[in-house]
Amino acid sequence: MTSAKVIRVAMLGCGVVGTEVARLLREQSDDLAARIGAPVELAGIAVRRPNRHRAVPAELLTTDSAALVESDVDVVIEVIGGIEPARGLLLTALNAGKSVVTANKALLAECGHELYAAADSSGADIYFEAAVAGAIPLLRPLRESLAGDRITKLIGIVNGTTNHILSAMSATGAGYTEALEEAGRLGYAEADPTADVDGFDAAAKAAILASLAFHTRVTAADVYREGIAAVTAADIAAARVIGRTVKLLAICERVTGADGSRAVVARVHPAMIPDDHPLASVGGAFNAVFVEADAAGQLMLYGQGAGGAPTASAVLGDLVAVARNRIAGGHGPRESAYANLPAMPMGQAVTRYHISLDVADRAGVLAKVAAVFAEHDVSIATVRQEGLDGDASLVIVTHEATDEALRSTVDKVAGLPMVRDVASVMRVEGDP
Ligand code: HSE
Repeated sequence: MTSAKVIRVAMLGCGVVGTEVARLLREQSDDLAARIGAPVELAGIAVRRPNRHRAVPAELLTTDSAALVESDVDVVIEVIGGIEPARGLLLTALNAGKSVVTANKALLAECGHELYAAADSSGADIYFEAAVAGAIPLLRPLRESLAGDRITKLIGIVNGTTNHILSAMSATGAGYTEALEEAGRLGYAEADPTADVDGFDAAAKAAILASLAFHTRVTAADVYREGIAAVTAADIAAARVIGRTVKLLAICERVTGADGSRAVVARVHPAMIPDDHPLASVGGAFNAVFVEADAAGQLMLYGQGAGGAPTASAVLGDLVAVARNRIAGGHGPRESAYANLPAMPMGQAVTRYHISLDVADRAGVLAKVAAVFAEHDVSIATVRQEGLDGDASLVIVTHEATDEALRSTVDKVAGLPMVRDVASVMRVEGDP
């Protein structure tokens, strides 16, 4: 039984994800109608070049996105990406009381508050499951299922391109440039891979995750970011020696500062994680997010983080949710930013480093290096030394210290006359 109401949907954009959304809407229309309690009708699709979209009915295509948003539709699905024109179009939709389903991580990470405020004032919904980690049900669990718990930390592999490149480097011993070129040839890396390899994509996702997990407004600008371009085959090999794997991680933590006050740290950078950590086995283009919460303990959500059909699955799930809300006359969760925690700068975040040095093999060298660590109040957890053509390779893993202290230590050690080369420096994460 369905109600008389028809849910009319406008879609903005029709790339890889949009084409799959249109296909699923067509192929599953009876099931969607039964689940929602009303039929769904795709009223139009706004695209820039209508002659390039042969997989969708031509009569649905329009180049006038503003007119489509302003037409008699209930829900606007946005799969264009980028800030404008998506921001303006979605604000128009929300201000007019139309619910929004978007996959746009950059927009949410930069202007999420503005969109939430517009939704709040008109009574509309904004859902965005597809913006982080494609098909993986992740944001709804954070926003709803875990809303009664206190999340303390999230560690995620949220970018498939970089995970594919690092997995390939690990499997073949290839360097970064070679692995990136191969990923491009195989279609895993975009022609311009900057957003992925420099960590911008993961940082936007970290901002969204931290905001939901810690009930605090976190934007992309609050997220410390390092990409994978500086990861070398030597780093991967050094990780293997100590039973670790290199991953680009998005880490969001609720921390207590030196003065006892609470804060949020959100950071994206490569790190060595133990081979037996659940995230270490997340290979290729897959994504996973490891969640730690006070009552729930540890959870891991895993699946396909990109691609047309997997991302469309998340979009369709949101469409069902917002359509149900409209039929029932209610709305989903609003922005929850009541905790309003400050963002802690990376320098004050507590991390651990793995440092591999090529040093002169003579008396007093280890003592001189160790003295620099002591000067910066950085405690050494393990030291391993091996002969290296008359010199020695000195591999140090530290205990926890502030990132600032660890960096200053590395800078000072690198300047010691007996240190020939700093072969590898990387943070280590994921220890119990
Ligand atoms: N480019 C992203 C990735 C997918 O490589 O995972 C979309 O966020």
